Amino acid sequence: MLSWDDFDTEEVIKEAGKEAARQDILNAAPIVQAPVVQIAQTEAPDATFAASSNEAGISPELAKARAALAQLDPAPGIAELESSATRIQVDDKMMINCRADLNQLVPFKYDWAWQKYLDGCSNHWMPQEVNMTADIALWKGKEGLTEDERRVIMRSLGYFSTADSLVANNLALAIYRLITNPECRQYILRQAFEEAIHTHAYQYCIESLGMDEGEVFNMYRELPSVANKAAWSLKHTQALSDPTFNTGTPETDQELLRNMVAFYVVTEGIFFYCGFSQILSMGRRNKMTGVAEQFQYILRDESMHLNFGIDVINQIKLENPHLWTADFQQEVIQMILQGTELEIQYARDSMPRGILGMNAVMMEEYLHFIANRRCAQVGLKEQYPGAQNPFPWMSEIMDLRKEKNFFETRVIEYQTGGALSWD
Ligand SMILES: [Fe+2]
Ligand SMILES: [Fe+2]
Repeated sequence: MLSWDDFDTEEVIKEAGKEAARQDILNAAPIVQAPVVQIAQTEAPDATFAASSNEAGISPELAKARAALAQLDPAPGIAELESSATRIQVDDKMMINCRADLNQLVPFKYDWAWQKYLDGCSNHWMPQEVNMTADIALWKGKEGLTEDERRVIMRSLGYFSTADSLVANNLALAIYRLITNPECRQYILRQAFEEAIHTHAYQYCIESLGMDEGEVFNMYRELPSVANKAAWSLKHTQALSDPTFNTGTPETDQELLRNMVAFYVVTEGIFFYCGFSQILSMGRRNKMTGVAEQFQYILRDESMHLNFGIDVINQIKLENPHLWTADFQQEVIQMILQGTELEIQYARDSMPRGILGMNAVMMEEYLHFIANRRCAQVGLKEQYPGAQNPFPWMSEIMDLRKEKNFFETRVIEYQTGGALSWD
C-alpha cells in the first residue's frame, strides 16, 4: 500500500500545483488569464474579450460574459484590499488596527494561534458519530431518571442550544473583521465551524430524545435563569454588531476588549461550566452517556476557545497598554463577578435539590474557583480568595489540560481516517 510516507510530499505538492496551473491555462484561456494580467499590471482593459466575442460558434451568453470582462476595471477590486498589497514583514502584523495586507497568512507572528488552528482541526468530530440508543431508551422510559435529573438535562439543552449560536454570531458578525491578524482569523473561522457543530450536537440530542423543540429552543427567551445569561451576552455584542462600528480610538478598542471578555471569559469561560459539570457528572454515573459524550467533545473544543480568547486579550493588552487602565480593569472584574452571579442563579434554578453528587452550594464554590482562574488568566486579582475546587474530576478534564488523554481513542481514529492511502 502506498502512503504519503513513500513520497517526497513537498515535491508531490509542488508538481501537482504546477500541473494544476498548466491545466488552468490550457482549459481556461483566455477568460481567466486576461483579468489576472490586467489587475497585476493595473493597465486599462485590453481588447482580448471584445475581439473574441465575435468568434464563430460561441453562445450569445458566453459572448456577453466576455464583453462584460472586457469592460472590467480592476481598480475597485484593488481598492477593496484591506491595505496596500505589498509583501508584508512579521513586524507589520498587529492584533488590532493593523494596516498591513490581511490576505497574506505568512509569515506568522502569533505561532500559538496557528497551532491552535491545527489542534482544532486534529480534534474534528461530528455529532452523528455518537450512539444515542441508550439515552433514548432511558429518556423515554418511565423509570431510570428522576424529575430532578430530567430538569438538569432540559435546562442544559435549553441554554446551550442557543448559546453556541450567540457565540457563533458574535464571531462572524462582530469580532472577525476587527481582529486584524490572518492567523487569528484562521482560528476564528475554525472556531465558528466548531460552534456550528456544537449547535448541531444539541439539536441532534433534542431530536433524538424527542423533546419539545419549541420549548427547548425558546428557553433563552422564556425561562428566567437561562434568559438572563443569554441577555447578558447579547447586550455585549450590540455595539460591535453595528456595521459602522470600527476600532481605532481608545474607547472603541476598549469596546472590542469588553466584547471579548464578555464572550470568551464570561460566556464560554463561566456560563458553560455549571451545565458541563452537571451533564458530565451524569455520564460518570452511567446515565445519558450519549449526551455526556457529546458534551465531552464540546468541552474539549470550548477549553481551546477559552484559551485562544485569553491569549488574544492578553496580546491586545501587550500591544496597547494604554487600554488596560485601572478603571477598565475594575470594569472587567465587574463583568466577571456579574457572570459568576448569573451562573450561580442558574445552578440554583437547575438544581433545587442535591443530585449527581453535587448541589447548588458546591456549584457556587466551584464557580468561585472558576472565576478566580478567569481573573488570574487576564492578569487580575482573584475575587474569591481561598475558593477550592469541589469537583476535582472536572480539573482532570479541563483545568489540567488532560483532555487529549481523555479523548485519545477518538483522536487517533480521526487521524487514521484522515490519512491518504493509494490502494
Ligand atoms: Fe461551542
Ligand atoms: Fe466556543
